[in-house]
Amino acid sequence: MTEKLRVLIGREEIAGKVAELAAQISQDYRDSNPLLLGVLKGSFIFLSDLVRALTIPVEIDFVRLASYGAGTETSGKVRVVHGLRRSIRGRHVIVVEDITDTGLTIQHLTGYLKRRHPASVKLCALFDKPQRRRVPVSIDYLGFTLPDAFVVGYGLDFNEKFRHLPELYVLEQEA
Ligand code: IMP
Repeated sequence: MTEKLRVLIGREEIAGKVAELAAQISQDYRDSNPLLLGVLKGSFIFLSDLVRALTIPVEIDFVRLASYGAGTETSGKVRVVHGLRRSIRGRHVIVVEDITDTGLTIQHLTGYLKRRHPASVKLCALFDKPQRRRVPVSIDYLGFTLPDAFVVGYGLDFNEKFRHLPELYVLEQEA
């Protein structure tokens, strides 16, 4: 199998969208010092660009969930492999996800967070593949809606490859 990459969204377009999302979040959370919670590993580039475009103070933390094994299909089972180390009671939390696919990760994470009594939980996802949804998810801050294709780059990987690429690509596999 050879892997072929085709550019889907270029770096300027991504940067423009990240700036729009940051402006909206800065406006909505101007008085509340929110906690931005990055979902590892895929969100690390998006989160770091997003926070530098904000005009308000925020705090940052990370959680890591596992569902995908090797390959492009979810196992359907999600678990928290690196959880919160500090209390989020009474905090305004914004979950920052790279891509919402089946929705299982966010569904699991939302339950995990709500049991810890935050003041609010919102979701910011840079990419969404709504055709693949298995459970309903409401995305409060969304960058791009994508077709049903496996994408890599800008933090997203295939077997840990391609995360470092600055653009978003469709991964095509050829026999
Ligand atoms: P969900 O639980 O199916 O919504 O999957 C969410 C996670 O699966 C994302 O945070 C990604 O890490 C991974 N994922 C889903 N679709 C893709 C893709 O097209 N490329 C790379 N990773 C993906």
